[in-house]
Amino acid sequence: MKKIVFLTGAGMSAESGISTFRDSGGLWENYNVEDVASIDGYIRNPELVLNFYNMRRRELLKVQPCEGHRLIAGLDDQYDVTVVTQNVDNLHERAGSKKVIHLHGELMKATSSDNPNDARCVVDLSEESIDINIGDKAKDGSQLRPFIVWFGENVPMIEPAIEEVSKADILIVIGTSLNVYPAAGLLRYARRDCEIYLIDPKTVNCPDNYGITYIRKGASEGMRTLINDYLIK
Ligand code: APR
Repeated sequence: MKKIVFLTGAGMSAESGISTFRDSGGLWENYNVEDVASIDGYIRNPELVLNFYNMRRRELLKVQPCEGHRLIAGLDDQYDVTVVTQNVDNLHERAGSKKVIHLHGELMKATSSDNPNDARCVVDLSEESIDINIGDKAKDGSQLRPFIVWFGENVPMIEPAIEEVSKADILIVIGTSLNVYPAAGLLRYARRDCEIYLIDPKTVNCPDNYGITYIRKGASEGMRTLINDYLIK
């Protein structure tokens, strides 16, 4: 079975109704990323950060995977597919994708403020327990916090992601501006004979020596084109 690795970003979930970060009207136009998505911001004002993620978690409950998520999940029966995503939503899983690596954490999980990457402290949040409030405790007694990788924190899942990309026969990049490292650096681990496709309605500045095939469309339409014009051979 050929191995396909997807690298997805916020544009993958845009058609589900979740705003991206750097497009016009994006999240970072309305919030200062330093205040709500960095470890320093959390230490400075934990309540502001907890409420920011409570709002995003509530939004996530109202949306569904888009056709693009479903088309990716549908490839599981013909290819060995791994989705490496920068997104913290669970839309790839809800669409049926079996192997998803979250580089920047998961909105529907919570963890310890003292030991955020201690798996014993990571808990699932549900519709019934959707918010995290000041005073909620993790298993180690510290303040419960979102299981999100904030700016200024390590990206523990980058190693498994590099492993997957280095074994890919096909690498498909969808809906990311490739602005944020180490995620954006994953392309350099692709084998020289790996076919690389990039699906985005806008131009993404990317080193041109990767022999990338650009599909200048949105995630869902772009996935239809990819499957019909490139994958079915
Ligand atoms: N289909 C596909 N791509 C789209 C669509 C769409 N319908 N709409 C927008 N895009 C593209 C934009 O053109 C842009 O290239 O999605 C990309 C979104 O880029 P960003 O907003 O920068 O999101 P992302 O690359 O995922 O950001 C990376 O930055 O703030 C951090 O942790 C956050 O994971 C995030 C990381």
